[in-house]
Formats: sequence, C-alpha cells, structure tokens
Amino acid sequence: MKNLSDKINQLKKEKNAVILAHYYQEEAIQDIADYVGDSLGLSQIASTTDADIIVFAGVHFMAETAKILNPNKKVLVPDMEAGCSLADSIPVEEFKAFKALHPKHIVVTYINCSAEIKALSDIVCTSSNAEKIVASIPKETPIIFAPDRNLGKYINQQTGRNMLLWDGACVVHEAFSIEKLLKLHAQHPQSKIIAHPESEMHIIDVAEYVGSTAGMINYVKEHPKDSFIVATEAGILYKMQQEVPDTELVPAPSKEDNTCACSECAFMKVNTLEKLYNCLKNESPEIIVPESTRKRALLPIKRMLDLSN
Ligand code: 13P
Ligand code: SF4
Repeated sequence: MKNLSDKINQLKKEKNAVILAHYYQEEAIQDIADYVGDSLGLSQIASTTDADIIVFAGVHFMAETAKILNPNKKVLVPDMEAGCSLADSIPVEEFKAFKALHPKHIVVTYINCSAEIKALSDIVCTSSNAEKIVASIPKETPIIFAPDRNLGKYINQQTGRNMLLWDGACVVHEAFSIEKLLKLHAQHPQSKIIAHPESEMHIIDVAEYVGSTAGMINYVKEHPKDSFIVATEAGILYKMQQEVPDTELVPAPSKEDNTCACSECAFMKVNTLEKLYNCLKNESPEIIVPESTRKRALLPIKRMLDLSN
C-alpha cells in the first residue's frame, strides 16, 4: 500500500506538476513540496517553472499570483477556503472610491490582496522588497500603500515617506502580545527578537531584525550561535529549526491564552496533505482569473519582479 506522499509524488511525475509551499504550511506539506519559500520566492519560481500544473500550497492570493503569471498553466489549490485577512480587508469598490479621491498618488499594493486590487495598482511588493520598491519611486510622488497598515507604517519609518495607508491588518501578526513578549524576553535576555513587518509597531520596535519569512530564516542562519524569539506564524519554525538544528528558537507569545503560546494562521492551515493529494488527482479546485483582470494585474507584478532581480 502506497502512502499519501508516494501517491502525490507519482501523480506529480505523471502530470508534470510542481508543488510550491509557503513556510506556514503544515510540516508534511513542506516535506513533499518542490519549493518552500516566502511570497516573493514563490512568485519568482512560479514565473519561471516549466511544469504544466502548479499546485500552490499557500493561500488564495499566492496561487492567484501564480495564475496571473501563467495563464496557460493549470494552477490548483488544496482548499479554495485558504484566504487571508489582509486580502479580505480591502473590498474592490471601496478601494476604487479611495483611489479616486487621490488621483495623483501612485498605488503600491502588498501582494496579500486579490487580483482585482492588483489590477488597480501601479506596482506590487512583498515584505522582502517593499522598502526597495517604495524607494524606487521619486520622493516627491505621493503614494497610496495598501492593504497592510503595519507594513505601511514600518516602510514609512524606514524610508522617511508619508504614504497614505489603507487600514488593513493580518489577524495573526496583530495577535502578538507586547507585554508577554517583554516578559518572555526578560526570562531569555540573551535571545534576539526577530519579527515579520506585518506585526504592530510596538513589536517591531523591540526587534533586532525585521523581515520576510525568508529574510528571518536567513538571519538566524547567519547567527546560529544566538538564540531567538520568533514573531511570525509558527509554521516557520519547522524549516528554521532544520536550518539551525542547535539554535534555540522560541515562538513569540500571542494575546490569546492558547496552550502552545504561538500563533497559527487558520487560513494557511486549512490545507492538508490529503487535500493536496485530492486536488492533484482531480485537478480541482482550480484558480481561474478573468482575462481582463489578469492582464491589468500582470503589469504591477511584472514591475515588482523586474525590480527584484
Ligand atoms: P512572506 O512573504 O514574508 O512569506 O509573508 C507572507 C505572509 O502572508 C505573511 O503573513
Ligand atoms: Fe494572511 Fe496573516 Fe495568514 Fe499571512 S498570516 S496569510 S497575512 S492572515
């Protein structure tokens, strides 16, 4: 009897499929994936793959980005319900009205948004390249940054800009408790706090390093002798610990009184190995993006990829 992973690997070969997974996916999915990465890394892989089918084990906006880049490939997701609170925080009609109030502004959108919102943007960014993308826009040009107010505030601080911010947030990163974090740090004073820029400013202010999931992993790899308190979704600890097996990694505590004291993204975690197997077997659920939206969303994504090379 073949196990699920063997069956997935066989289907992958038969169908010339590639499996892309985000660092927040469950361990079994990360283990079977061809590539595990952050939003930028996975978009870069999606833009160059020669597979016929892309199975995207992440959340909807990530798979949708892969489809925008690959109109002639089939892009599958294990579960169509894998959404994102940031993408949900920016309804299209409301954003259109907001944009219309500021016609001179360049629109920079964080990749965590729908294809329709990307289609209303001038350039997309991820947490890996947001600073670089914003810095590439002339200082005197006003900018709308959407949808993450926390990333926007952080980039304003880093670049000295005064971007107009959409009021969206990530439920997972806003769940970290600064009081509990400071208490934990007092118990581990030698540990360095590292944080994702979707976190609130009081968390970012006490962090030694702020960056994307891939950036955080690289940072601990560069400092394997230190110990770390990690303020992002707990799924990252799996790959991070594999990279630095002897380094102490402690998850940052959330406001909730949960038993593991760590934060999980419920959207990311709706994907399972079994759903991944079924989606590859049935070639469903499949991501479909209307062609007119896709074409308009492609340009700001391409601009980002060109600037990130
Ligand atoms: P990264 O691009 O840093 O992996 O972030 C994705 C995300 O959704 C963080 O919550
Ligand atoms: Fe969206 Fe936050 Fe989940 Fe990332 S962690 S997918 S930003 S809800």
